[in-house]
Amino acid sequence: MEDSKFRKGDAETVVFGSDTMLKSSPIEKIPDGPTTPEIAYQMVKDETFAQTQPRLNLATFVTTYMDEYATRLMNEAININYIDETEYPRIAVMNGKCINIIANLWNSPEKSVYKTGALGIGSSEACMLGGVSAWLRWRKKRQAQGKPFDKPNFVISAGFQVVWEKFAQLWQIEMRQVPLTLEKITLDPEDTLKLCDENTICVVAIEGVTWTGLNDDVEAIDKALDAYNAKTGYDIPIHVDAASGGFILPFLYPEVKWDFRLKWVYSINTSGHKYGLVYPGLGWIVWRDKSYLPEEMSFSVNYLGAEITQVGLNFSRPAAQILGQYYQFIRLGFQGYKDIQYNSMEIAKYLHSEIGKIDAFINYSKDMVNPLFIWYLKPEVAKSVNWTLYDLQDKLSQHGWMVPAYTLPANLENDVVMRIVVRQGFSRDMADMLLGDIKSAVAELNQLAYPTTTKLAVDKNLKIAPRIFNHGSYANASKKQN
Ligand SMILES: Cc1ncc(COP(=O)(O)O)c(C=O)c1O
Repeated sequence: MEDSKFRKGDAETVVFGSDTMLKSSPIEKIPDGPTTPEIAYQMVKDETFAQTQPRLNLATFVTTYMDEYATRLMNEAININYIDETEYPRIAVMNGKCINIIANLWNSPEKSVYKTGALGIGSSEACMLGGVSAWLRWRKKRQAQGKPFDKPNFVISAGFQVVWEKFAQLWQIEMRQVPLTLEKITLDPEDTLKLCDENTICVVAIEGVTWTGLNDDVEAIDKALDAYNAKTGYDIPIHVDAASGGFILPFLYPEVKWDFRLKWVYSINTSGHKYGLVYPGLGWIVWRDKSYLPEEMSFSVNYLGAEITQVGLNFSRPAAQILGQYYQFIRLGFQGYKDIQYNSMEIAKYLHSEIGKIDAFINYSKDMVNPLFIWYLKPEVAKSVNWTLYDLQDKLSQHGWMVPAYTLPANLENDVVMRIVVRQGFSRDMADMLLGDIKSAVAELNQLAYPTTTKLAVDKNLKIAPRIFNHGSYANASKKQN
């Protein structure tokens, strides 16, 4: 008689002796029946097995290390939906406390018990909220003046993060870009004013420019705008996109004025999941005070057990990140954050100086204000060697490191650079291992007798296709389907 359980997958089945492990994972259709949790776990886990170890991912700004207690707290809150404020009222209070703490780090002038702010899934959602609030404030004013309000624009440097392109396209608000050049490597105040007019809803200044790691000079922009607004009668404000810098500046450069100490800064966003030191996804936005948050942005629902008012694009969202953020504030305190950011900066500076000493390379900027930097091949070296930084990226990935090579934004798009972002969890010892791997990779690449394909493409001025990641069976399957 046939054993009906034979190799079908039950609690006794050995994972790698099961039928399921002889098949590829489901791509299009849900499987006909269940399998054991052990087999399902193994299959899902193994699909991610060959990926970069998150702490070796030097491309990301996002937190890849939290201590065990933080991880435990977050895991324990994994089944909590933030929006259910009636059921989980302390989480809403905790959220308010986090906003207060962040607002005070940014010198909020607001006197009320709870400062005006909101959480987001990341800086992207927070940037959208900042942009929308600027647009609605501008529109209300234009309506009151009986003036047209159909052609809003905002001004930003060409070093914007893609969220601002999304904001422009999704809300149909013109994005005016101030070019970056090798001489003007951050947002130039005078060039900014040249692009402003009566339809400008705000200027966006960036603290921690994604491409370069540099900071726009918000104080200089504020000063220039102050004179411009006085002359024109406009009141163009500043939204500061401090996705990375918002948790660096208060700790390492408290004397630098970039926040609500400046007159025209009406809103600021940051990523709790970057230097806020929380696992993804968590973003924050704070307004100067309640009057800068347009009423139309608050929505109320009454079916969750009470009247819940919310500002945000998402409705449901995980609550665990709020516990993680509040834990970090209590656990680390101001000094703890300062120590961690200081260490990240020191390690980034060490790498910056050591990479600057490697013959082939040149750092993009002498200064470093955030724990990240970019470098490129010296022009004479780039001409004479048979490889590019894309090849170096590939070589380093063989050792587990993800160090991205990419081209800079408009105007500088022919410059291929490489970037390292240092975060908590990257020690001096790891920095030395990385440097060792970079040096041996360069030595090996220098031995190449023939040009690599990326070198041939760069020489022919061909745009290098962004690295195509191997999406394994899914990529192959979708090819088949097409
Ligand atoms: C300057 C800037 N703004 C916005 C974002 C988007 O942030 P998030 O990934 O938190 O949505 C980033 C992300 O790198 C950024 O660097």
